[in-house]
Amino acid sequence: MNQSILQLCTPGVQALKPYTPGKPLSELEREYGIRNAVKLASNENPLGPSARVLEAVKAQFADLARYPDGNGFELKAALARKLAVPAEYITLGNGSNDVLELVARAFLSPQSAAVFSAHAFAVYPIVTQAIGARANVAAAHDGSRGPRFGHDLEAMLAAIDADTRVVFIANPNNPTGTWLTRSALADFLRNAPPEVIVVIDEAYFEYVDEPDYPDAVEWVTDYPNLLVTRTFSKAYGLASLRVGYGVSQAGLADALNRVRQPFNVNSLAQAAALAALADDEHLRQSVEINHQGMKQLTQGLRALGLDYIASVGNFVAVDVGADTGAVYENLLREGVIVRPVDNYGMPGFLRISIGLEKENQRCLAALAKVLGR
Ligand SMILES: Cc1ncc(COP(=O)(O)O)c(C=O)c1O
Repeated sequence: MNQSILQLCTPGVQALKPYTPGKPLSELEREYGIRNAVKLASNENPLGPSARVLEAVKAQFADLARYPDGNGFELKAALARKLAVPAEYITLGNGSNDVLELVARAFLSPQSAAVFSAHAFAVYPIVTQAIGARANVAAAHDGSRGPRFGHDLEAMLAAIDADTRVVFIANPNNPTGTWLTRSALADFLRNAPPEVIVVIDEAYFEYVDEPDYPDAVEWVTDYPNLLVTRTFSKAYGLASLRVGYGVSQAGLADALNRVRQPFNVNSLAQAAALAALADDEHLRQSVEINHQGMKQLTQGLRALGLDYIASVGNFVAVDVGADTGAVYENLLREGVIVRPVDNYGMPGFLRISIGLEKENQRCLAALAKVLGR
């Protein structure tokens, strides 16, 4: 940006580092002239959306001149039924990122602070900084008391100070794939001050198959300060339509609704999400493909002698050594897009999303070639 214009921005925005998205396939094709590349860079669903979703989206075409239902009545009702909560507990967002931003706009100010972990999802620092609020970044586990790079809830509790209004917790976290147990999170909620909004971000909830992994929605009735966020971008395969949601008591939902854009979720997205919720079989298949793909990819990584962080999401962070920039570039030349995570304070790591069997195979073959293994 022109330097003088940047100086006109608020101090928070001046210091902001914009979000780095995964490289789009079309950009790789444009820049490198590579066809048939595979993108394993944005934790998307490699199966795509359900056929029922495509039908539902098509059925909306005739109404494109109309504004969407600004209150998302039908989608909220369907989510409420599924989650066994009142419809007033649901806040719809343009992706769950939108809901995270609503939290920052409703509860943070330049006089307050947000707590999140080192190596946590990039949108927490962005929405905090955009408001000009202070970020209290808690050190992550070093591997002695919990998974290396994982959230340390004791450190996060200790990072809450008198100015703290919001805590962001990712369960599981991206890009680490680490997760928190039911008892650890329950303790955190019990001990967090009631005047601090606790956001539990469950963007990868549907993928997790650990007996001790909590469903934080069950705690919403007990904690007026709890917001659980989820998304249709991952296991439901609707990333491009941008639809996610928050679940909280009505008081917190009302606060978020005050700063929400009137028509933040478009009608195609609402129809698609409704149809996706009704297609359990597609969800089951998506999760199954992910479990198989995770097995395939991690076995392949071990065979290459590469360390990775055990992940319960649809991605895995792999330690490829110091020069991730060069490895990333060379993988691009092999037609494989992954994600460097230096910006997450994890130099040496690349994050690889789980793809279809042949995509994972292509990625492993490219890694073997690029790393000379
Ligand atoms: C932990 C986490 N939370 C939230 C999101 C936001 O997803 P969306 O805005 O597509 O719902 C992501 C996306 O990568 C994520 O990894």
